[in-house]
Amino acid sequence: MEKMIIEGGDSLRGEVRISGAKNAALPIMAAALLTPEECVIRNVPQLQDVRFMTKILQALGAEAELAGDAVRIRAVRIGDTCDYDLVRKMRGSVCVLGPLSARLGRARVALPGGCVIGARPIDLHLKGMEALGAQVAVRGGYVHTRADRLAGREIFLSGRAGPTVLGTANVMMAATLAEGVTVIQGAACEPEVADLAKFLAAMGAKIEGAGSPTIVVTGVPGLHGAEHELIPDRIEAATFAVAAAATGGEVALRGARPDHMSAVLDKLREIGVETRREGERFLVRPAGPLRPAHITTHPYPGFPTDVQAQMTALLTQADGISIVTERIFESRFMHISELARMGAKVYVEGPHAIIHGPNKLSGAEVMASDLRASAALVIAGLMAEGRTEVRRIYHLDRGYERIDEKLTALGARVKRAEDQGP
Ligand code: EPU
Repeated sequence: MEKMIIEGGDSLRGEVRISGAKNAALPIMAAALLTPEECVIRNVPQLQDVRFMTKILQALGAEAELAGDAVRIRAVRIGDTCDYDLVRKMRGSVCVLGPLSARLGRARVALPGGCVIGARPIDLHLKGMEALGAQVAVRGGYVHTRADRLAGREIFLSGRAGPTVLGTANVMMAATLAEGVTVIQGAACEPEVADLAKFLAAMGAKIEGAGSPTIVVTGVPGLHGAEHELIPDRIEAATFAVAAAATGGEVALRGARPDHMSAVLDKLREIGVETRREGERFLVRPAGPLRPAHITTHPYPGFPTDVQAQMTALLTQADGISIVTERIFESRFMHISELARMGAKVYVEGPHAIIHGPNKLSGAEVMASDLRASAALVIAGLMAEGRTEVRRIYHLDRGYERIDEKLTALGARVKRAEDQGP
């Protein structure tokens, strides 16, 4: 296992290129299962989760090859089963359910189970598959679906916490090959869903409204191979923007899509961070002392849960009391106790984190619990006085491409080291 050692106190300065979006890559790679023809996906980030999705496709019998920033997939003959060992390591792998059910008329996919950020049920995915006419059964820890041919229907897909991103992806993918018209109401509006729809359209699917709460899919008999370039990762871009603000530096994000980051940029401006476009680049720097804020996570276009931890770390430096409310996942506050170990005055009250700032952090050994919590701890380490060791950084490698190299190029003192600890 590796840890990241950070010597804090330096401002980040310079330019960073934003990688392709992990959360677009995973469902789009799964969508390639819908056709026996070759698909090529470009701007693919080199990440543990992407390598893992490649393995899942191979385990299903597809040819899948990662070379540089492209992945080529040819799913000529595929099996219907995705094992527990694969799904439990990456919950995102559940997005093979829709493509397998549509292409083969059956699927056997392990139930993902909960994880450190919450219960992560997939009831809405199953509701969607059932609405399309599949027989759905849960047996022995697996979801079994069966249908001769799926049939289009009107489906309302939002749940207690709002729409579901991968559930929308699964139903939209399945509907591409269903007979007739599917209308998904209460669909997730995330840019990753719109990017998936763009890829499906390039494969010959008929989809309208992706990126809005109502998606209309008119089924076609078959899909063909296609090429696609992934959108930039808005969460990686937001993480670097927050890190720039946290260290009092100035960072230019190259290739980011600020139009995908409105809620984050709006909050950054509210707390006193300057953000402006300059040609292909997007500049971020604090304009003075930071002001406190109230932030609530929401489905897109609201403030993303995937930036909540990083923003919480930043708000430890704001002058006053901030309240961060997590509405998407029930236990996404694992970073709070680690931030407190670094001297932050922050505590959790139900779904709220209450942060008293500003408060100089001091370097400490901390434990990463999930991907975005790890990013928050790295940001805290960059702001802190002295040395921080973030342990279990494999979480970070699941979702941030070459983050240590990118931070070093911006002037941070970070390095990886073997961690002998448990
Ligand atoms: N939910 C249900 N039933 C379902 C599905 C979801 O109740 O059948 C609930 C969830 O428990 C949660 C909410 O709905 O409370 C939203 O979950 P969603 O299904 O949208 O999450 P997801 O699709 O499994 C994706 C991202 C996550 C990101 C969430 C929310 C991928 C691979 N994962 O997960 O990304 O946090 O959307 O935006 O796209 C990350 O990148 O660090 C990450 C966790």
